[in-house]
Amino acid sequence: MAQAVYNFPRGFLWGSATSSHQVEGGNTNNWTAWEEVPGHIIDRSKSGVACDWWGGRWREDLDRAAEGGQNAHRLSVEWSRIQPAPDRWSEVALDRYLEIFRGLKERGLQPMVTLHHFTNPLWLEERGGWENPVAIQAFEKFTQKVVETFKDYVTTWCTINEPNVYAVEGYVEGVFPPGKHDIQTALRVLANLVRGHSAAYHIIHNLQPEAQVGTAINYRSILPAAGWSPLDRMVANMQSSIYNRVFSGALVDGVMRTPLGNTRLPEARGTQDFIGLNYYTRDYISFDLRYASALFGHRYFRKDAELSKTKYIANEPEGFYEAIRWANSFNLPIIITENGVEDSDDAMRPSYLAQHIHQVWRAINFNFPITGYYHWSLMDNFEWERGWTQRFGLWEVDPETQARRKRPSAAFYGEICQENGLSADMVARYAPKVFARLFPN
Ligand code: BGC
Repeated sequence: MAQAVYNFPRGFLWGSATSSHQVEGGNTNNWTAWEEVPGHIIDRSKSGVACDWWGGRWREDLDRAAEGGQNAHRLSVEWSRIQPAPDRWSEVALDRYLEIFRGLKERGLQPMVTLHHFTNPLWLEERGGWENPVAIQAFEKFTQKVVETFKDYVTTWCTINEPNVYAVEGYVEGVFPPGKHDIQTALRVLANLVRGHSAAYHIIHNLQPEAQVGTAINYRSILPAAGWSPLDRMVANMQSSIYNRVFSGALVDGVMRTPLGNTRLPEARGTQDFIGLNYYTRDYISFDLRYASALFGHRYFRKDAELSKTKYIANEPEGFYEAIRWANSFNLPIIITENGVEDSDDAMRPSYLAQHIHQVWRAINFNFPITGYYHWSLMDNFEWERGWTQRFGLWEVDPETQARRKRPSAAFYGEICQENGLSADMVARYAPKVFARLFPN
């Protein structure tokens, strides 16, 4: 057997990622309201107590992360808790987060904090959420409070998680609140998110000059089904640039380029210190007149791709490499802010993990400046409109009893973090299926 190790640079950040609404429990925000309406969550479940982090279980779960060799954690702070009304801050919530940040420090977990991970306070949602430009100043004010309060503990900030997903799911697909189907509104929301991000970027740097500020973009690899077909290539390029580029492009030169026209947003120019990359899967696309509402693109997974439990994710590690190459085109440090797969049986996760981490190693060896990898997710948690039907955790959680169970992938990831590398011996033990591919003779 080959005895090789794919080593990572010294100081590489190994972590996992979570978000407030998905793990805390006991929230009151636009999502808890959305979850009340039958038909919104596919298994009719609610976030409920989620993983009960607000009840104190963050301690034991972060112990699990630290014991598993992780040295970083990405989490979000819940706007609706910290600012329950436009003119009120909750000292209780701020203190609780301070306790969590101290807890992270005690465990040797370097924090990365997301300020907005899909949820809005109800008082903002009632005024139209991000459709209304009042969201921009409101977010700026919230950011200011958060940074002033936590700046002794946190220097890496992710302003907005997956603005592209937020706009598409909420305003095109209609499966996130507010459940609309209107591309123009989606683009207006996206422009306001760019403005909100820019305002946050500047205020963070005013308060904390040494801060590192970015976003987390969900990059979806979209390839033409037939490479020779100009029509397939056209829809692939169009969808890929709309999905992957509209938001992030605006942060480069202050122009948001969309098929419906360009918007100048000069305040956004140069407002990222790193690229946060979330990658899960790759699609193939063909031109098809029957898919007018999807801009004539019919998307599907490669026929022989290995699919996750609920067929939500195809295991496409090469797509990850493409995503990293795309991220590298910004000439900034890259942080893998999310990557993972839903897999309650842990049947596919070990090989997915090995193959994707191998791609990170490959990119680092081509001198792509990747500084960390955060697995999504530490624990099973509330999966938005998919409720509890999908399990992304290294650890299994039973939301009824709150019992935790360690999946083999948690042990595998633990060895990777501790070794700061992916070894042939680990892959032979945890992901033998892909051994020959990763360590060919
Ligand atoms: C989101 C997470 C989500 C994950 C898996 C990402 O788009 O940022 O909140 O749980 O995908 O669906």
